[in-house]
Amino acid sequence: MPRVNAVAVIGAGASGLASIKSCLEEGLNPVCFEREDDIGGLWNYTEDPRPGKGSVYKSCIINTSKEMMAFSDFPVPTDFPPFMPHGFVLEYFRLYARHFDLLKHIRFGCSIEAVNRADDYEETGRYVLTIRRTEDDQSAGVEELTVDGVMVCSGHHVYPHIPELSGASAFKGMKLHSHDYKIPGPFEDMNVLVVGAGNSAVDIAVDLSRTTKKVFLSTRRGAWVISRMGPLGIPADALCNSRAFFSLPLSVLQTLVKLMANFRFSHRNYGLQPTHAPLQAHPTINDELPHRIMTGAVQVRDDVAAFGAHDVTFKDGGHEEIDAVIFATGYDYKFKFLDDDILSMDNNKPGTGLYRFMMPAHLRHPTLSVIGLVQAIGSVIPISEMQARWHARLLTGGASLPEKAEMDSDIEEKSSRMKEQYVDSQRHTLQTFWIEYMDTIAEEIGVRPNLGRLALSDPWLSLRCFLGACVPSQYRLEGPGRWSGARDAILRSLSNNAKATQSRVLHDEPQGLQLSALLWLLIAVFLAVLFVWR
Ligand SMILES: Cc1cc2nc3c(=O)[nH]c(=O)nc-3n(C[C@H](O)[C@H](O)[C@H](O)COP(=O)(O)OP(=O)(O)OC[C@H]3O[C@@H](n4cnc5c(N)ncnc54)[C@H](O)[C@@H]3O)c2cc1C
Ligand SMILES: *[C@@H]1O[C@H](CO)[C@@H](O)[C@H](O)[C@H]1NC(C)=O
Ligand SMILES: *[C@@H]1O[C@H](CO)[C@@H](O)[C@H](O)[C@H]1NC(C)=O
Repeated sequence: MPRVNAVAVIGAGASGLASIKSCLEEGLNPVCFEREDDIGGLWNYTEDPRPGKGSVYKSCIINTSKEMMAFSDFPVPTDFPPFMPHGFVLEYFRLYARHFDLLKHIRFGCSIEAVNRADDYEETGRYVLTIRRTEDDQSAGVEELTVDGVMVCSGHHVYPHIPELSGASAFKGMKLHSHDYKIPGPFEDMNVLVVGAGNSAVDIAVDLSRTTKKVFLSTRRGAWVISRMGPLGIPADALCNSRAFFSLPLSVLQTLVKLMANFRFSHRNYGLQPTHAPLQAHPTINDELPHRIMTGAVQVRDDVAAFGAHDVTFKDGGHEEIDAVIFATGYDYKFKFLDDDILSMDNNKPGTGLYRFMMPAHLRHPTLSVIGLVQAIGSVIPISEMQARWHARLLTGGASLPEKAEMDSDIEEKSSRMKEQYVDSQRHTLQTFWIEYMDTIAEEIGVRPNLGRLALSDPWLSLRCFLGACVPSQYRLEGPGRWSGARDAILRSLSNNAKATQSRVLHDEPQGLQLSALLWLLIAVFLAVLFVWR
């Protein structure tokens, strides 16, 4: 017998955990199915690569600061570093799961094989899941369950995408996709080619560069490389992902990001100069690459023209002997347990047909969503949480979707805007600015902070919300799911970020000085930019 308001959550990574929590918050009955026997998804590092299971590499450090990647009502502990290596991220998820008592809603070792409309779907919007227990022998383990809602949280870093490169099959050395890269050990003293200049490509190139003979980083388009660490050692994302910054016109934003990117090193001199403007493609976050290029350990090269058995020719005519190739060329978007008529990944253009990147617009009922399928300049974790909060409201009737025609035209409009704004690439069908996206969904739930009203009742908080980092707790100040700790979390975000680095006790200088100086500096810069712009 199905339980009333049973909602299936598929996967227990960051998105799944936030979905369970959001269902509970709305009085629904979540039941989460996780194929593995642990939570954390990608952030549960495993040494042996397995097909179908994604995990980060051993040296992976999150590229968004802890204040910006946190769940909105559960700040990262003060003593965790501002940029967390993967072990801390997993530990944070464990603390979250424990705090909200989520584990008892998860069935580990259960793989969802299919999701189909129930016989009474037209009236009820229900789905039938086919569940396979992964440890059991194949025949005994299949079970069916009817549920009132489905949140798909199965991740999209699973199926390696390797572009057609001429002669890649002719290459006789070691070949792998970044999905299967774990440690630099096997590549010691080799010449390695890394294809791509995204986050994983650059991380892997840097990781390899200390033990290999040489690393060649091949890029077609170049990339804007931004450091995690900003001025005064403050996380750059906490400085930039603010409402003040993103209320500037796009061209001003682009100029500022360009200035910032070129402040530390010249993209032209370091071979990285892209043809596109900043924010026209996803940026690459890396602190170490310029230094590794400077020592000659990494060399940036042009796009690959052809492979030989043990060598590669680049489009600019360059030629190198190489022992191994790593393709950091992204992933194919697939949800194997969903039929095309429920969710279609139209030629690897995953944004197609998804309202707000999460609700298939053609479905009759708002009972199925995809959580975490967004490319934002900012952490996807709070986005998943916001999406889950909205879907939970849609399931309880606390929110509703517009007519299909309206959704279709919204999708159409977003997609043509993306085509104008970004260079053509599969992941740019899911691209959005972080604050803009969060605000849009927050509006649907009624949790978008009203800074005008706030300015009357709590001017200091309102100013912080506008000028300071747009931390996820801003979406817990009002409306359903309001959290009494939100004000504190917002006001303390900068110092919470800094605490873990202040490991040596100093007795002299008052430490408040730097932060307030910085705040004033920001106000001054903001006003100056506004002034110049006018
Ligand atoms: C190398 C790398 C670095 C990254 N760095 C960052 C970063 O710095 N900051 C950031 O915000 N994001 C980063 N990301 C993005 C990352 O996707 C998110 O941080 C987050 O992990 C997404 O969580 P998720 O729950 O959506 O997916 P996942 O973590 O992939 O979890 C999906 C879960 O679903 C389970 N599952 C899948 N299919 C089934 C099924 N059929 N039945 C049952 N269970 C199933 C899987 O076992 C898994 O546990 C990074 C991604 C990669 C690959
Ligand atoms: C990662 O997940 C596996 C199961 O898939 C589990 O056995 C292991 O303990 C987890 N690792 C960590 C570090 O938690
Ligand atoms: C951080 O890295 C992941 C994986 O490489 C990437 O998908 C994400 O966009 C990056 N975040 C930012 C803010 O660039």
